[in-house]
Amino acid sequence: MTQHVHVTTAEQVTTIRLDRPDKKNAITIEMYAALGAALEAAAGDAAVRAVVLAGSRDCCTAGNDLGDFVRAAQGGGDTTPALRFLRTIAGFDKPLIGAVAGVAIGIGTTMLLHCDLIYAAPGAKFRTPFVDLALVPEAGSSILLPALIGDRRAAQLLLLGDTLDAPTALAWGLINGVVDDPDAAAAAAARKLAGCAPGALRATKALTRRATRDAVAEAMRLEGEAFAERLRSPEAMEAFQAFLTRRTPDFSRF
Ligand code: COA
Repeated sequence: MTQHVHVTTAEQVTTIRLDRPDKKNAITIEMYAALGAALEAAAGDAAVRAVVLAGSRDCCTAGNDLGDFVRAAQGGGDTTPALRFLRTIAGFDKPLIGAVAGVAIGIGTTMLLHCDLIYAAPGAKFRTPFVDLALVPEAGSSILLPALIGDRRAAQLLLLGDTLDAPTALAWGLINGVVDDPDAAAAAAARKLAGCAPGALRATKALTRRATRDAVAEAMRLEGEAFAERLRSPEAMEAFQAFLTRRTPDFSRF
């Protein structure tokens, strides 16, 4: 287990919080394992009626740990925990509420696409720099993002790697509200949902996800294949080394 993911349950609400502040909450293999296990435990516990997924007070997450990407590219590491987390969050059948402060990068933004409600601080920023890293989208975002915000805006995020501020994310329908205290807003929504009829909530969530469920599963499978291939590419190694040595990547020779 890891000390970088905290799981607490109170008033029938489980809160899963990332806590690796010195690395901007970048998510390691161990953290994916803890996140997946926490979601599975919440799914299997009838006393848990809703889940809040949060970062820390000033940072959601800088996305996948780039050191782990390098190890995976070199044939090391274990991608199973990340895939298990993605499968679990995509199929999670209880209300899931995201609370975002600071940056939500890569998986930090794409995992939100599987939340039912999202509250963000005024300074929150969303970014999916997969192409900047010579990678491809994951977590079903290749179809969920265009479906949610439209093809043109999705291209700004997925191709250009633009940073989206909180008011724009709200205007584009990526989040539900910009609030001074996203943790409090998410907790309030979760407590309200915890008091609702659980069977009706589950059935409603299943109905609203029905049309996209199989397509998301297929997208995640195809993204996974492309991601694994891109991860091993010289382009990606150039991007990772550039980040780790704090220089601009040079893709001119590819
Ligand atoms: N993986 C591993 N370490 C990361 C990381 C990541 N995704 N993001 C940040 N860190 C580490 C930095 O290496 C640094 O570590 P150090 O203090 O040991 O050098 C520490 O976290 C702080 O990051 P820093 O870049 O100095 O902070 P910042 O405030 O200037 O910038 C970010 C914060 C998040 C904007 C910037 O770190 C960033 O762009 N990170 C990479 C995001 C990314 O591409 N994620 C993958 C998406 S698929």
